[in-house]
Amino acid sequence: MEITFLIVLLSCHVIHSTDAAIEKNTIFGIEKNSLEVAGPIKDILAQTNGTAVLPCKIPDPAVGIVTWVRRKDRQLLTVGSDTHSMDTRFIVRPNITDWTLNIKNVQHEDRGLYECQIPTEPMQHRYVNLTITDAYSIIPGGPDLHVKQGSSLRLECQLIAATEPPTFVFWYRHERMINYDAEPGVKVEATTNGSILIITKAKLNHEGNYTCRPSNAKASSVMIHVIEEEEKPAAMHGSGERSNSNSGTNKCTSTQLFQVVVLLVTIRRYIMNPTTYFT
Ligand SMILES: *[C@@H]1O[C@H](CO)[C@@H](O)[C@H](O)[C@H]1NC(C)=O
Ligand SMILES: *[C@@H]1O[C@H](CO)[C@@H](O)[C@H](O)[C@H]1NC(C)=O
Ligand SMILES: *[C@@H]1O[C@H](CO)[C@@H](O)[C@H](O)[C@H]1NC(C)=O
Ligand SMILES: *[C@@H]1O[C@H](CO)[C@@H](O)[C@H](O)[C@H]1NC(C)=O
Ligand SMILES: *[C@@H]1O[C@H](CO)[C@@H](O)[C@H](O)[C@H]1NC(C)=O
Repeated sequence: MEITFLIVLLSCHVIHSTDAAIEKNTIFGIEKNSLEVAGPIKDILAQTNGTAVLPCKIPDPAVGIVTWVRRKDRQLLTVGSDTHSMDTRFIVRPNITDWTLNIKNVQHEDRGLYECQIPTEPMQHRYVNLTITDAYSIIPGGPDLHVKQGSSLRLECQLIAATEPPTFVFWYRHERMINYDAEPGVKVEATTNGSILIITKAKLNHEGNYTCRPSNAKASSVMIHVIEEEEKPAAMHGSGERSNSNSGTNKCTSTQLFQVVVLLVTIRRYIMNPTTYFT
């Protein structure tokens, strides 16, 4: 009884998979075993919202019409330089022997295998396995950075997992974009993978939440704390570190000396000509 049931199940399964195999080999109609991968697979990485570049070099410019196919659903993407799919993000601009496929505004769903079909006899294929990353940014040293008042501050914003350079990187202090503020002593420099914010002399009003927002990657923030300088110059407080109090003493001595000289000169004048001096 149980055995019969098992046999029925098994045969059902066998019949089903045979159907699937037949379907696989015939539905696309271009060639047999179209779901097989007949050749090396090139791995390509692209970032979310960016452009994926899928290369396809052909041996001879005169081979004919090259097509690109997405393997997971066997969707025909481009035929020659025409976008065949409803999805207009797929673009091929052929150049002699180069039939590179560009996928604009690429998303996670676009990952997977793509096939470039070159109509030679027999047909040649180029396979690309596309992987999508999410680019983000980091500011090393965060989330809290302490800087002494008067010293310089250098914040570096670095893009991670990015496959394209950003078109811009904006810096914000308390939600205000400061790239074009022309604030004295504050400047922004672009780097190959991000941006650097430089504050030549940190002031108390430079304290706060700084955010780096690249055009094509997740933003990152850092909290800047400016430590007030404890050692005030001696001239203001009359006491301080040793070298300062020494120079303070010297100043005091020269002042006293000057007063003594003035006094001596006055006395001398008075002695020499008392009447003129008082009129
Ligand atoms: C075609 O490729 C050649 C050589 O790779 C290059 O110099 C030329 O700029 C390309 N033309 C276009 C329209 O991309
Ligand atoms: C494509 O790459 C992913 C990882 O990036 C991997 O898991 C997958 O097996 C690859 N597919 C093929 C067909 O090589
Ligand atoms: C970013 O570029 C800087 C130099 O401009 C380099 O020191 C740093 O290692 C790079 N970071 C990454 C994640 O590539
Ligand atoms: C700094 O600002 C960013 C962007 O508005 C925000 O996401 C983050 O939580 C803030 N950090 C702090 C410590 O307030
Ligand atoms: C992609 O773009 C959308 C819409 O502009 C945005 O909401 C999303 O954060 C972006 N993703 C990444 C990883 O930058």
